[in-house]
Amino acid sequence: MNEVIGLLKKHTSIRKFTEQPVSDEQLHAIVSSAQSASTSSNVQAYSIIRVTDQGMKQQLSVLSANYSYIVECPLFLVWCADMYRLREAYGKHEQDEPVYIGTTENLIVATVDASLAAQNAAVAAESMGLGIVYIGGIRNHIAEVSKLLKLPQYVYPVFGMCIGYPDQQSAPRPRLPIDAVLHENTYDPDRMMQPVEDYDRTMKEYMTLRTGGKRTSTWTEDMANKLKTPARLHMKSFLEKQGFGRD
Ligand SMILES: Cc1cc2nc3c(=O)[nH]c(=O)nc-3n(C[C@H](O)[C@H](O)[C@H](O)COP(=O)(O)O)c2cc1C
Repeated sequence: MNEVIGLLKKHTSIRKFTEQPVSDEQLHAIVSSAQSASTSSNVQAYSIIRVTDQGMKQQLSVLSANYSYIVECPLFLVWCADMYRLREAYGKHEQDEPVYIGTTENLIVATVDASLAAQNAAVAAESMGLGIVYIGGIRNHIAEVSKLLKLPQYVYPVFGMCIGYPDQQSAPRPRLPIDAVLHENTYDPDRMMQPVEDYDRTMKEYMTLRTGGKRTSTWTEDMANKLKTPARLHMKSFLEKQGFGRD
């Protein structure tokens, strides 16, 4: 194992931060590392919004799930999938509107680009001793969040990210055994369930220990509950309003 792999394997989400600020130099290193991520055809179809206004952080927290860590973290970034910049690039050369800008394919391209950049940022931050947590919760009220951030057409907020110095320690959350996620040549559904059962036992032990016995559910139970619960059913119509999802 080398240093980078060691760092990756140590990852755990941080939801409690000290008051120590993240310097502009660190922010610069984080964002420029994000920009070094691979990007589909060099489109770089993402934008990052650093939210420094405490009132806005408060509102984003309320719109997310009242996460206190959005307000308390020294650095809050919103990662947006962004095809608007490409529209402007198109406009420099063409008179009409770009017909294919809002395709589902471009929605995937921009979402993947934003995610790869964000994960590079996360690793860069962690390499400097900072901790991070992604905030998908900003999609709970995605229209209001987009309005607050003044996002134009062809832009949508994929997730937020709290960054700061950790004020908590926890053991990395176990992941599925490799055999549950790694296939050879073709997808083999029969091979994955035994490792999933092993994982149920691992997670039950981990959660029991971590929550002092308050949560003892297995991973498959958690996933079954997740699939029973409707979540963010407004997404399709919101994305369509932003100009995405045609064809
Ligand atoms: C796209 C994405 C969205 C997430 N949204 C939230 C969130 O809204 N609130 C939160 O507390 N954690 C959020 N998380 C953190 C996950 O819960 C966490 O990564 C996962 O449980 C694994 O734990 P670990 O990161 O500590 O290993 C999110 C993670 C990702 C990748």
